[in-house]
Amino acid sequence: MAQASPLPLPKLLLLLLLPPHLGAAPQTVQVNVSSVARGLLGAEVRLPCHLVPGEVEVQVSQVTWLRHDQTGGSVSIAVFHPIHGAGFPSTGPGEERLAFVSQSQGLGSEFQDATLVLQDLRVEDEANYTCEFATFPGGNSKGTTWLRVLAEPKNHIEAHEVTLGPGSMTMATCVSSGGRPPARIYWSSPPAGQSNETRTAGLASDTFTVTSRLTLIPTAQMNEKEVICKVEHETLSEPALLSITLVVRYSPKVSISSHDEDWYVGREKASLSCDAQSNPKPTAYNWSTASGFLPPTALSDGPKLVIHPVDWSVNTTFICQVTNAVGTGWANRTIHVKETLSSKESREKLVGTVVAIVVGLIGLGSILYCVLTRRCPGQGRQNYSPNRQVYTSVACTTSLPRPTQNTTADDVNQNDRQALPQ
Ligand SMILES: *[C@@H]1O[C@H](CO)[C@@H](O)[C@H](O)[C@H]1NC(C)=O
Ligand SMILES: *[C@@H]1O[C@H](CO)[C@@H](O)[C@H](O)[C@H]1NC(C)=O
Ligand SMILES: *[C@@H]1O[C@H](CO)[C@@H](O)[C@H](O)[C@H]1NC(C)=O
Ligand SMILES: *[C@@H]1O[C@H](CO)[C@@H](O)[C@H](O)[C@H]1NC(C)=O
Ligand SMILES: *[C@@H]1O[C@H](CO)[C@@H](O)[C@H](O)[C@H]1NC(C)=O
Ligand SMILES: *[C@@H]1O[C@H](CO)[C@@H](O)[C@H](O)[C@H]1NC(C)=O
Repeated sequence: MAQASPLPLPKLLLLLLLPPHLGAAPQTVQVNVSSVARGLLGAEVRLPCHLVPGEVEVQVSQVTWLRHDQTGGSVSIAVFHPIHGAGFPSTGPGEERLAFVSQSQGLGSEFQDATLVLQDLRVEDEANYTCEFATFPGGNSKGTTWLRVLAEPKNHIEAHEVTLGPGSMTMATCVSSGGRPPARIYWSSPPAGQSNETRTAGLASDTFTVTSRLTLIPTAQMNEKEVICKVEHETLSEPALLSITLVVRYSPKVSISSHDEDWYVGREKASLSCDAQSNPKPTAYNWSTASGFLPPTALSDGPKLVIHPVDWSVNTTFICQVTNAVGTGWANRTIHVKETLSSKESREKLVGTVVAIVVGLIGLGSILYCVLTRRCPGQGRQNYSPNRQVYTSVACTTSLPRPTQNTTADDVNQNDRQALPQ
């Protein structure tokens, strides 16, 4: 077309009269295109193409956009001419979806922005497009853009309730649907698991739905643990993070606890607690003993067993059985009942009395020793017991004074009494 339209005479003359060094100047024109343009399916995309201003001023004779097909052929889809304006000679894509951004600026050879707008993007628009400027006197220059047609996927995650068992099960599914190209899915899950990925056609043609299943051997610890599915896609500036809480159903894991170990006959009240971990929650607690039924002084109250009062019948093994929708779990606990606290106290008193008598005898013996040998240890007491100083100094020289003996016995008894409560 450029050759067909006659150039203005002065320019033609100029071309003919060009000095050799200017004639070899096509390098002075350059077009600027982006190597890749990305557009969303159904949306509008711009294919930028600019004439880069050079040292020599040039006039644009024509701009052509070519579309290359996979087989190596190409068709002209958009043309701009300074006199004739814009034309869209092809149907794929044609006039109805194409426009030059600068075409409304009117005609003229100052046309330097050949950016093309393509609307209602379709999958078949994905191709390489070449923008070519024909100029005078700069010659031709072109650049190619790879138009990529993308579709943003919709992502979602779901957990599957599983029941504790020996085999591995699908515990969560992450789906990225309608993406183009297909999305990449990763699991960042604390429990190490395998993922099984399948790819199917999306709803819109040439889009993809990627489904990733997280497969694990369930454990009770996995219940209520969070797992994260990471979806990476070209249309997302940052990966999409989707999290979900795993659900594992399991039968009760039971243990029995008590407040203390002070089980003695006559204790007013004591209790045992049946602690169960399960999913779902326990529906029933059943207390029994190894021999069968509960002792008469034990009363079960759900997870609690209240013993009131403690007697020898409680010296046994208690079993707590807990049931939920999945199954039953149990634990046992053997109680060792001790003697009553009052009999313990009276025995302690007896021990105290024996100690008092022994100490008293030792005291008496030492006084006799003092009297017989006339060597008294009383001298040392002078410093801190001035009241007795008179008695002891006299005692050594005269007969045995009765008050001293009484005082010694009293002291021992006092000590004994003080020691008792400790
Ligand atoms: C080409 O275009 C890009 C983006 O529009 C711009 O950053 C770059 O400077 C241009 N290059 C030239 C040589 O003009
Ligand atoms: C466009 O060209 C690039 C190489 O320049 C090639 O890798 C790509 O596959 C082409 N795209 C299409 C849709 O032909
Ligand atoms: C992945 O899942 C598909 C469909 O559920 C199944 O047919 C296939 O055997 C699984 N592959 C693996 C390795 O688990
Ligand atoms: C409680 O457990 C005992 C012993 O296992 C059993 O005999 C009894 O039937 C159970 N009671 C209930 C209500 O399940
Ligand atoms: C209490 O039970 C234990 C076994 O748990 C047994 O060895 C002990 O003799 C019992 N005590 C009495 C007083 O029955
Ligand atoms: C108590 O539990 C243990 C295991 O925890 C078990 O070996 C034992 O047989 C149980 N005793 C009774 C009486 O159920």
